Amino acid sequence: MVELTAPAKINLTLDVLGRRADGYHAVAMVMQSVDLCDRVCLTPAADISLTVNQPHLAADATNLAWQAALLLRDYAGVAAGVHIRLEKVIPMAAGLAGGSTDAAAVLKGLNQLWRLGLPREELARLGARLGSDVPFCVYGGTMLATGRGERVTPLPPLPSCWVVLVTPPVSVSTAWVYRRFQPHAVTARPDTEGMITALRAGDFNAVAARLANVLESVTIPAYPQVGKLKQLLGDFGLAALMSGSGPTVFGLTTERERARRAWRHLRQHTAQVFLAATTRGEE
Ligand code: C5P
Repeated sequence: MVELTAPAKINLTLDVLGRRADGYHAVAMVMQSVDLCDRVCLTPAADISLTVNQPHLAADATNLAWQAALLLRDYAGVAAGVHIRLEKVIPMAAGLAGGSTDAAAVLKGLNQLWRLGLPREELARLGARLGSDVPFCVYGGTMLATGRGERVTPLPPLPSCWVVLVTPPVSVSTAWVYRRFQPHAVTARPDTEGMITALRAGDFNAVAARLANVLESVTIPAYPQVGKLKQLLGDFGLAALMSGSGPTVFGLTTERERARRAWRHLRQHTAQVFLAATTRGEE
């Protein structure tokens, strides 16, 4: 049996550079893992099967965790199956790469369980077939993601800090947000190079000052509560941003008490509020 934790991600930056011929958008994103984790437990079995602790999540072949097992089994020509037990903690369709991180954990776990010995790069390459964020989730830590998000380069780790995550009760489809994206509606584009320089310098305040996500220009007007929660995090002195295509917003601070104050207060406003910390990737 193999047990893994599957951490969520947040975006420190998200820029859309244009539309690609394949319908995806060319992006530049600085991504960061946080220790809000799903748990994935893999047990040897004859066929592939899945159980999840959430009634609203499909426990069938449409689930990315199941697809990851199928993909790796076919790719590596394995005759065995696996029973996947998925314990969801990360909010779904929330901008936190919850589905992608489960898929990445299944790839990594089955690589162990089936003794395949595939290098991480190969798992990341395979993972890109499942979703643009899966390669990042295979590595974790702090990374620059380009292409449609699947090309990842390691960056110096973000100075460790507290992360308050707030997910309002709406599901936001990534495809819908990208479809509605209009470059002229963007008011603040990220300075990706400036963010990388800030990370190299290990300067938390410079990182905090450079948080930016162009997809806020779609999601915040459509779901005003996202903007309100971001504002609230800011009022508590946290550096706040929406993650991915939303609706989750997060706030960063190096001060534990400040993070706890914001967390306690926000819990009165909305159900899904988490206090987490940034984490480094493996290796
Ligand atoms: O790659 P993934 O399946 O997670 O993407 C979900 C949807 O989001 C895609 O089908 C596409 O519509 C949109 N998308 C995009 N450009 C990206 C990533 C995602 O348009 N770079």
